[in-house]
Amino acid sequence: MGAGIAEVLARAGHPTQLQDLNDDLLASARQRIHQSLERAHSKQKITAEQAQRGRDNLVDHNRPDLVVEAVLEDIQVKIGILQPLSHQHPEAILASNTSSLSLTQMAAACHRPERVIGMHFFNPPPIMELLEIVVAEQTDTHTQQAVEQLARQLGKTPILVKDVPGFASSRLGIILGMEAIRMLESGVASAADIDKAMELGYRHPMGPLKLTDLVGLDVRLAIADHLTHEIGPQFTPPPLLRRLVRAGRLGKKTGHGFYRWNGNEAS
Ligand code: CAA
Repeated sequence: MGAGIAEVLARAGHPTQLQDLNDDLLASARQRIHQSLERAHSKQKITAEQAQRGRDNLVDHNRPDLVVEAVLEDIQVKIGILQPLSHQHPEAILASNTSSLSLTQMAAACHRPERVIGMHFFNPPPIMELLEIVVAEQTDTHTQQAVEQLARQLGKTPILVKDVPGFASSRLGIILGMEAIRMLESGVASAADIDKAMELGYRHPMGPLKLTDLVGLDVRLAIADHLTHEIGPQFTPPPLLRRLVRAGRLGKKTGHGFYRWNGNEAS
């Protein structure tokens, strides 16, 4: 999601620096942002000038006022990123895009815990309107208000949520996703028909299995494991999900999950 979040910031006029493990990953993120800007322009969501501004705002070096981490859904990995940043950039707001993990625990590991907050974006970040702002025990009102103001400037609608496992969105989304996988596993219907039930019967824009492909099976498994541990067995991930993750079928990003993917087309 990092590329999508960077695109949202760059499009809204903020000089934005991408960081990743290596140059290949950085080049691929840049390419995805460029493609998305072209697509937004071709769909008349933004002008040619706005697309150009988005490209120009992707900078190589920056002294950040805000850092948004979007690494693996693993608290130790996240702390490993945030802790040194809190010393290098003590004035910056440090935001995590976590879907479920404790912001309070991340803040406790940082030099300026009052500057740590959750900014939970939704896939695909340039299109989805919601920004779930998660307030850690230590977050101060200045940080909270700055992030609420930024959310609106980015064109998002913020909601404020306490730092509880799964916040408001993942707690509900994961229940639906895990139940759909259990239904597929026990042969209730095909993946396409389970998805159609929610798309046509409940007007969800995308059924829960296709959505799991979009989000990443590994990401949803990590969230489900965490919520099972923190809240209870209603979140237990089905064995099928674990098997597919072990097989490398992570969804759209690997070309195969519950569906086979060709670009944006699933079959
Ligand atoms: N920039 C801006 N807008 C764009 C764009 C871009 N790069 N590309 C497309 N759009 C616009 C389109 O013009 C269109 O707008 P209109 O409706 O006004 O015409 C809209 O975005 C939808 O685009 P498409 O018509 O191309 O695509 P679609 O209709 O097939 O919708 C989808 C695709 C938005 C992904 C839709 O299927 C959807 O909403 N799915 C559900 C997504 C969802 O639930 N996400 C949350 C996942 S959970 C999560 O992310 C959190 C987590 O913690 C893991």
